Amino acid sequence: MVGHNKKRALITGITGQDGYYLTKLLDEKGYEIFGLVRRTSNNPFSRFDKDIPLYKKIKILYGNLRDSDSLKSTLETARPDEIYNLAALSDVGISFICPSETLDINYNGVGRLIEEARKLNPKVKFYQASTSEMFGRTNPPQNESSPFQPVSPYAEAKLKAHQDFIVGLREKENFFACSGILFNHESPKRGENFVTRKITLSLAKIKEGLQDYLELGNLDARRDWGFAGDYVEAMWMMLQQEKPNDYVVSTGVNHSIRDFVNETAKNLGLNLKWEGTGTDEVAKDETGKIIVKINKKFYRPSEVDDLLGDSTKARKILGWKPKTTFEGLVKMMTDSDLEYVRSIASDYKI
Ligand code: GDD
Repeated sequence: MVGHNKKRALITGITGQDGYYLTKLLDEKGYEIFGLVRRTSNNPFSRFDKDIPLYKKIKILYGNLRDSDSLKSTLETARPDEIYNLAALSDVGISFICPSETLDINYNGVGRLIEEARKLNPKVKFYQASTSEMFGRTNPPQNESSPFQPVSPYAEAKLKAHQDFIVGLREKENFFACSGILFNHESPKRGENFVTRKITLSLAKIKEGLQDYLELGNLDARRDWGFAGDYVEAMWMMLQQEKPNDYVVSTGVNHSIRDFVNETAKNLGLNLKWEGTGTDEVAKDETGKIIVKINKKFYRPSEVDDLLGDSTKARKILGWKPKTTFEGLVKMMTDSDLEYVRSIASDYKI
């Protein structure tokens, strides 16, 4: 009968970065964990090979936010006390190319999941992965009272879900739903297309002679970058409160993309010098070799220039605070990628 009184959690998006850290946290807290996984022909867990012992503890249920029937049967099996909805089309750049898919997953998908979940258990507690992207053009610092001015299909869909399904159902129907308005959060498990991981992985490869140069888009955008492992604690804390609410989760410090490149280069002992402006800007190493250049294809049709979160509410009410600094985060990611690149280096060298 052991495990009978365990709390049950359903995590959607469990194969992603946040899914990994949240699984680890809830496992430590003794939860029984169910993970909604989208069927693909490749093993969705393959990039986490080293973490197989953790993933073996999860009960994997195949389904899709675009398919209500699959959500219904997932929920009937999992019978969760808490749902963490981390599944999304999460790449802001790609959302400009696939706006309809983005809306269907990031907005309608949330509605489908909530509808099925409440039919089964009206008291279920729901965490929605909302985002600082919803602030869009609003000047920093941004907090829960700042206006939302989204500028991408990604952010528009996330904002609609936040307003209709989280705030709306909480206020009208007493639904226990929380929005975590998370600012950018990174880790060694970050997908390789997001700018931080692209930088740490590429510069580690350049350092080891496996790549020539790194191409980036807008270097002037500023982001408030924290560590994903710290941020999942805030997710869990939100659902343990007596009343549901929305919280900004951020470090309160921001940096430009160029700063992130410089900090990574410093960790790798690459001495970079920047020259030129706009799309002609480049960073060279001590020998004059170009290490970073601009490729216009990485610019977005519209950009969020400056995100800097004020997480006073989360700090006061949840007692949450970030434990990892910007420098600590960049070091963690750089060290991990350097180790990884060294482990694969022999495959490249013939
Ligand atoms: N991805 C990417 N690739 N971004 C680049 C590049 C590049 O080559 N060059 C410059 N950037 C700039 C983008 O234009 C953007 O301003 C910034 O780097 C960060 O881009 P991403 O790392 O892709 O993240 P994001 O800020 O758009 O979105 C992430 O954070 C949100 C929270 O604020 C995602 O994780 C979202 O899902 C999340 O909601």
